[in-house]
Amino acid sequence: MAETVDLDVLVDQARTAAAAAGTTEEIREVAASVTGKKSPLAQAGRRLGSLEPGERKELGRALHEARATVEALIEARRTDIAAAELAREMADSRIDLTEFIPGLAAAPAARGHLNLVSRTQASLEDVFVGMGFEVAEGPEIETDWYNFGALNIPPAHPARGMWDTFYLDLGAPESTLLRTHTSPVQIHLMEQAVAHDLLPLHAVMPGRCYRRDTPDARHLPVFHQIEGLVVDRGITFADLAGTIEVFTSAYFGPDIHSRLRPAYFPFTEPSAEFEVTCTICLGSGCQTCSQTGWIELGGCGMVDPAVFTAVGIDPDQWSGFAFGFGIDRCAQMRHQIADMRILTDNDLRFLRQF
Ligand code: PHE
Repeated sequence: MAETVDLDVLVDQARTAAAAAGTTEEIREVAASVTGKKSPLAQAGRRLGSLEPGERKELGRALHEARATVEALIEARRTDIAAAELAREMADSRIDLTEFIPGLAAAPAARGHLNLVSRTQASLEDVFVGMGFEVAEGPEIETDWYNFGALNIPPAHPARGMWDTFYLDLGAPESTLLRTHTSPVQIHLMEQAVAHDLLPLHAVMPGRCYRRDTPDARHLPVFHQIEGLVVDRGITFADLAGTIEVFTSAYFGPDIHSRLRPAYFPFTEPSAEFEVTCTICLGSGCQTCSQTGWIELGGCGMVDPAVFTAVGIDPDQWSGFAFGFGIDRCAQMRHQIADMRILTDNDLRFLRQF
């Protein structure tokens, strides 16, 4: 019985000593002192031979168990120490090679952000998605048919002058060009809708456009538009006017309203220009709006039956409206930017303000 108590004490002492060991060398010393030849365990084992067979068997088993316990806890501690030593060694030998690149550590790369035009496009999309529109995109290189023909602008029609562009391959059977507006995406969408039975359609189509325009305070030869198209049954001009008004107040704020003025586009009939309250003077009249209180944002109208026919939609069954306006122009008005050319200047003093 006395031996059993001693063994418990031995195991406890071994546990304390193992926990206190912090290095491989120390745990080896602990192992030697508690299980080695001169250890109390080994000495007790040597005394077994002088005992009665009954006592010998009992003490032998107790000694065996105590040794197994002690060996296991030493081994566990040895594994922990080895892992910690390896981790320490790896941390100590770690090299940050970027420290050797001249200037990099001293001046970490600054994080950029989206250009104002991209941000404006994203917030315009948000407004329209909130109104139930989907967002679609189309190619910037178009054929004559998509940019003009399908939009009811036949070759040599004088209206082509409003959308003069850069031709890429005039000699080809069908010439390719840089699109002058996002309206050709209307044609792609309606063709897909016919092919896959996807009518009705409610979509906005943002993207880059090109025109042979000389850059000035309100024009860029490379600019961005967002197009809108609704094709459904029983759509009227009132739906168009209401959509434009809801958009205007949602995007520019509750004090800004819209109005439509008769205009001409070959692909809509009737057509209108849409204007919004001047954001500079809030309608009282100023230099920017030529004292009218209104600023033109884009064009719109009811989809011309000739366009429906060109894509294979029956104009007696379906009606719709379309609109298109400049994204850069929206950014200009919302942030009172005097000259649009600054949008492409890459001047960080300007870009960082947004
Ligand atoms: N595509 C026309 C333009 O660029 C705008 C527009 C779009 C007009 C849709 C009517 C309908 O001027």
